[in-house]
Amino acid sequence: MNQVSKIDFIKAEKLKEKPDPDTLQFGKNFTDYMFMMDFDGENGWVNPIIKPFESITLSPASFVFHYGQAVFEGLKAYKTIDERSVIFRPEKHIARLNASCKRLCIPPLDSELVLEALTTLVELEKDWIPEKEGTSLYIRPFVISTEPYLGVRPSHHYKFMIILSPVGAYYSDGQLNPVKIYVEDEYVRAVKGGVGHVKTPGNYAASILAQERANEVGYEQVLWLDGKENKYIEEVGSMNIFFKINGEIYTPKLNGSILPGVTRDSVIQIVHDWGIPLHEELISIDDLYETYQKGQLEEVFGTGTAATISPVGELKWEEHVMTINHFETGEFAKKLYETMTGFHYGKIEDKF
Ligand code: COI
Repeated sequence: MNQVSKIDFIKAEKLKEKPDPDTLQFGKNFTDYMFMMDFDGENGWVNPIIKPFESITLSPASFVFHYGQAVFEGLKAYKTIDERSVIFRPEKHIARLNASCKRLCIPPLDSELVLEALTTLVELEKDWIPEKEGTSLYIRPFVISTEPYLGVRPSHHYKFMIILSPVGAYYSDGQLNPVKIYVEDEYVRAVKGGVGHVKTPGNYAASILAQERANEVGYEQVLWLDGKENKYIEEVGSMNIFFKINGEIYTPKLNGSILPGVTRDSVIQIVHDWGIPLHEELISIDDLYETYQKGQLEEVFGTGTAATISPVGELKWEEHVMTINHFETGEFAKKLYETMTGFHYGKIEDKF
């Protein structure tokens, strides 16, 4: 065992073959190493280590299997055009990870140590960062509750881990291709006071049925409405959503059930910087349909770490079908995508 700062290190005996960068899918391949750290009630977070990626053994009674006390993050590292390996906005993701921990009663992580773990692991695995435009190294930090205990109260034991996956486009039919979205009017993703504003696995588990139903009728994802009145737009799939209406930009305001996306935040900064009016407000699906009928709904797109910008080409709401921008990627979404990827690959100075 070698000591790398306070993080221990176990070297892999054999390295894996890297996948073909031209056929990379999202989240299917994993790199040679992972980071791991344990928490117990007496000692706090201990034993940070980078070691070969391998299966872990847990008691079937582990808390996470029964009550889902767990949180995660998703962020990316890119290889810039001048060959640097950079992680995009790690501090924001670490802050959100700790906000998620707080909501799920998980003991907070030391932000500096998490940053060190991220940078050390990514530096070690930098040859896994694919270089082709649209590809990146997806970073998945997560915390699971591991105490073998079936009573409902916060677990006394946890594991924090970071795994890495070289990825291509999030949607199988490519980056920046418009997607068809079904406005979900039966199931909801989250409610105010719940956990929709943090990144916990249950939010994603609860979304799968609606997504499956949308897929069955030919739609890729769903548009989520609020859980109280089934009226106000919240998110699209696992992304935040933006609208271009009459030359101005609108996005649902953070209301306690919407995830504060790091890409959402970057897009807001860019739009402000461009001097284009941006409104964070309640947006009802009825009002949105009215703007569509008046011919004012120019573009719709989702934002998230996985896909960066994902244009919406069609919205199906009850019996109404809204075709957005002739089912073509709008100029505004394209410009935003180019700006975001410009930041990612070091082609445009990221001043934010
Ligand atoms: C993202 O868009 O970054 C997500 O949250 C999707 C991820 C859960 C795969």
